[in-house]
Amino acid sequence: MKDGYSRVIDYLRISVTDRCNLRCIYCMPAEGVGLVGHADILSFEEIIAVVAAGAELGIRKVRLTGGEPLVRLGLCDLVRSLSRLDGIDDVSLSTNGMLLMEYAAELKATGLTRVNISLDSLQPERFRRITRHGDLAKVLAGIEAAQDAGLVPIKINTVVMRGVNDDEVKDLAALARNRRWSIRFIEKMPLAGHQWGYVSSAEVRRQLDSLGPLVPELTEPRNGPARCYRFSGAEGSIGFISPMSEPFCSTCNRLRLTSTGMLRPCLLSDVGAVDLRAALRDGANTAAIQALLIEAASSKLARHSIEGCSHPTTTTMSQIGG
Ligand code: 5AD
Ligand code: SF4
Repeated sequence: MKDGYSRVIDYLRISVTDRCNLRCIYCMPAEGVGLVGHADILSFEEIIAVVAAGAELGIRKVRLTGGEPLVRLGLCDLVRSLSRLDGIDDVSLSTNGMLLMEYAAELKATGLTRVNISLDSLQPERFRRITRHGDLAKVLAGIEAAQDAGLVPIKINTVVMRGVNDDEVKDLAALARNRRWSIRFIEKMPLAGHQWGYVSSAEVRRQLDSLGPLVPELTEPRNGPARCYRFSGAEGSIGFISPMSEPFCSTCNRLRLTSTGMLRPCLLSDVGAVDLRAALRDGANTAAIQALLIEAASSKLARHSIEGCSHPTTTTMSQIGG
């Protein structure tokens, strides 16, 4: 499936819940967001129907996100069903890691390939402040459990925030020396009412200069938005995800499905969103679902423009899925 700009769309990111056991300061207000009822979120059967239809159009990779996907009951059953679908060769998960200790082995057994874990600080007190509930020790143990279970390569996501954790980038980058982990620094995006201002990837790179030269990694061009590097002799890699300073729209290969069944062409714009839930509950068959997937793909914009966007999104990250 291609979009209107000849980009191949082979990746579907699915938010399975808008609920989360944390309240990260860049994602949610302290009181959380108005939660939707169970009847309003897509059932596993509905999600599976969408992915099966998409697989026939060339969707190859699926990522489950939230909110926190592991707070949705029975998530491993969904992973098992999705990983068995013809054409789907990669089912991965974005998680805050709080429940990974419990689920890592089962996730691996049901066919999950790998996990991305959020980690914004290595200081327990600060970690708690950023996530408002998080337990750093638990998350670190969860990362180890994922590693032991073989959910690799482990990718760690750090949203860099000025005056909050920007003094920790060297400590976080050092994790990639001895561990085969990819540490990815992300520029903070101003979603739904959140503060503007971000620490650029260039600035983070400058901070890492003193740790030695960063050698660019040879990665496939369509291997996601991270630009990857490695310190010589290091086990793991360092990635930079720069939605603000260097938008990667030209290589965007994805559609997003929210937990309530809105199919979104773009994370940062509400333009072209399609209500798949309404169609599914109206009895849409495979061909009808496919027509809607194609419609959403073809309304993908050439690029987002966060600054001066005429259609800024009013949705939070936890509702769309990061
Ligand atoms: N800017 C950038 N990344 C964000 N995430 C959540 N909110 C933001 C934001 N405002 C990403 C983080 C987190 C994942 C769930 O979504 O990487 O790890
Ligand atoms: Fe939850 Fe992830 Fe949002 Fe943090 S960033 S509140 S872990 S959904």
